[in-house]
Amino acid sequence: MVCFNRWKCVNFHMFLTFEGIDFCGKSTQARLLAERLEKDHVVRLIREPGGTRISERLREILLDRRHLELTDVAELFLFSASRAQLVAEVIRPAIGRSELVICDRYYDSTTAYQGFGRGIDREAISRINALATGGTDPDLTFVIDIPVEEIERRKQSAGLSFDRMEISGQQFYGRVRAGYQNMARTLERMVLLDGTLPAQEIHQEIWRTLLLQQIIHS
Ligand code: TYD
Repeated sequence: MVCFNRWKCVNFHMFLTFEGIDFCGKSTQARLLAERLEKDHVVRLIREPGGTRISERLREILLDRRHLELTDVAELFLFSASRAQLVAEVIRPAIGRSELVICDRYYDSTTAYQGFGRGIDREAISRINALATGGTDPDLTFVIDIPVEEIERRKQSAGLSFDRMEISGQQFYGRVRAGYQNMARTLERMVLLDGTLPAQEIHQEIWRTLLLQQIIHS
């Protein structure tokens, strides 16, 4: 962000991200926020992995349930490759046009899933994240936290078929969740929210945070 008098400032730009374990409800929150902000600003809502021609193809490889032989390190590089393309083609240009960018997952997902979840060295991940993004960091990150058992409940009511990541076991998700909690304790830009609350309550909490941080004005 470049301007302190933000909301109607010409040079205003803001990069917000949503994070959390699968089925935490972050996509709903990203959409609710985008819809509300769109009334006053040009908003670009993006989800990862994906968002460019190449990133969508990498997404197919990453989420295909038949690709069980994909190694943890190959997975790390594919998520990062998808992100590098997205940053170059979409995120950086949008920020350059002073748009408000909201990303449903970003490099904190790599730290949580490939770092804490898969156990890949986190220093290496941090260097790869920096390389993939060229230092384009979020200003503010909402982490929606739910207990791991809640995933099973939500999966059953969703009744869909699940992708390669979503068939991961509870132990894996336990490590990913603990990773997010750990990051939220140490990173100032992160706000941890209780994902078991009703969606509208979570949304109001997000809105209050934006007001408090003077990202928006009432
Ligand atoms: P998606 O269907 O978009 O799930 P969600 O709606 O939960 O975001 O699939 C993305 C999956 O990829 C999700 O399980 C999280 C995982 N992921 C990583 O493991 N590392 C990453 O860097 C990213 C961006 C996602």
